[in-house]
Amino acid sequence: MAELRRPLIAGNWKMNGLRQDSLLRVENIVTALSKISNSTFETLICPPATMLGMISSSIKGSEIFLGAQDCHPASSGAYTGDISAEMLADIGCSHVIVGHSERRLAHSETNKIIFEKASSAIAANLIAIICVGESADQKADGQTKNVILSQLSASLPPHSTSANMIIAYEPIWAIGTGVTPNKYDVQEIHSMIRENLSGIVSSANANQTRILYGGSVKPSNAYEFLSLPDVDGALVGGASLNWEDFMAIAACCLDRE
Ligand code: 13P
Repeated sequence: MAELRRPLIAGNWKMNGLRQDSLLRVENIVTALSKISNSTFETLICPPATMLGMISSSIKGSEIFLGAQDCHPASSGAYTGDISAEMLADIGCSHVIVGHSERRLAHSETNKIIFEKASSAIAANLIAIICVGESADQKADGQTKNVILSQLSASLPPHSTSANMIIAYEPIWAIGTGVTPNKYDVQEIHSMIRENLSGIVSSANANQTRILYGGSVKPSNAYEFLSLPDVDGALVGGASLNWEDFMAIAACCLDRE
């Protein structure tokens, strides 16, 4: 693992939690992080949009970054129910997830929409976490690499760099299932993503871009993934709802090298 890519442990809470339990979870993470001297990894929390303001206040002074789970492509306008990247930056977000498979599937989001969302995020000075990954059927058809390469080439804005974009590889069949790819397959896909990135952004940027793995990451398997040379962190769903599990996953970064 190149030192230039500081691992990121990101918690995607999805549509879970109410304010009281969520605040308690964040406070526990803040306290746990304050007890370790940490220049090894970064921590990001992506709560539901209703809690962004509250959590933005509660993490002030800590090293935790705040992210949203989605944004609208436009910066403002007549889009009832939507939230723009500019609004997310205004409330204290530094990151936003775009193109999560749950949004691609449930909201029919195409690569073109994800491209627009990522562009809008970058324009608002947010770091766009662009998710890619194949379905179980695509994997069974031997289409994994093609799917990921086409998602990458169609959803990355031309002005994306290692400073404003992170890739998350999340095989759909591994999300919330407890089933994961083996470490060799994860390394192979991450390395292919990095190689391909050098044709989209520069090769210097490709070397510096963080590529996260997501899909049933838990304390028991995190080290295996986080110790792979092209895995630069994790995008954690279910296990991030338990602060001790989230911290145990993050602590695996301390043992790498
Ligand atoms: P799980 O960790 O619950 O499998 O979710 C992964 C994910 O979708 C993170 O974005």
